[in-house]
Amino acid sequence: MITNENVEGATPLDPDELAGLKFKHITTQSQLDELEQANIVTGLLWLKKNIVREDVLTINFAMDLHKALFKNVWGWAGTFRLTEKNIGIDPLQVSVALRNLLDDLSAWIEFNTYPPFEAVLRFHHQLVKIHPFPNGNGRFSRIYADIIAEKHFALKPVQWGGRNLDKMTQTRRDYINSLRAADGGDLSLLFELYRTN
Ligand SMILES: Nc1ncnc2c1ncn2[C@@H]1O[C@H](COP(=O)(O)OP(=O)(O)O)[C@@H](O)[C@H]1O
Ligand SMILES: [Mg+2]
Repeated sequence: MITNENVEGATPLDPDELAGLKFKHITTQSQLDELEQANIVTGLLWLKKNIVREDVLTINFAMDLHKALFKNVWGWAGTFRLTEKNIGIDPLQVSVALRNLLDDLSAWIEFNTYPPFEAVLRFHHQLVKIHPFPNGNGRFSRIYADIIAEKHFALKPVQWGGRNLDKMTQTRRDYINSLRAADGGDLSLLFELYRTN
């Protein structure tokens, strides 16, 4: 039975979304984790070779990024969520909210609104708060934030993938707590996680 209910802050999938699973033989969460991780590794390799700096701030790039990371596993990879989740905005608002966020980020870059890594972490938090896709939003948002850091702010990426955030660890608890604090307007805990880079 695939269930991520014991992982704090994970989004449960509804039956329609589970039907999009491309491997029908999977029975456990850890098998799914492994297949997703393999897809992320190959997807990122492909993407790194094909990335065009100017495209990174577009909604098409956002969709292509999610698709590259999850398309071998999920039929709906790269397509926006249609269902309500415990996190995230109304599914009907996703594309507008994402467009607004990317426009905001473009303006922050153009006008130096925030110090570079504050701009990146604000983008990171707001992106995962929108929760554009049925699943994979955590990994997608962290990878996207790293791409923005590297391509638009010449910052060293955090490389969240190496921080073991997908399992129920204290590191994940701290990370989820930092996002919840950011939901309430306090960015300091997320700042700390960026600073320990
Ligand atoms: N209160 C919150 N505010 C913002 N983001 C959150 C909150 N709680 C959890 N998250 C994010 O949502 C992610 C879980 O969404 P999910 O789509 O399952 O992503 P993934 O499959 O990559 O873990 C978490 O990894 C975390 O990044
Ligand atoms: Mg998940």
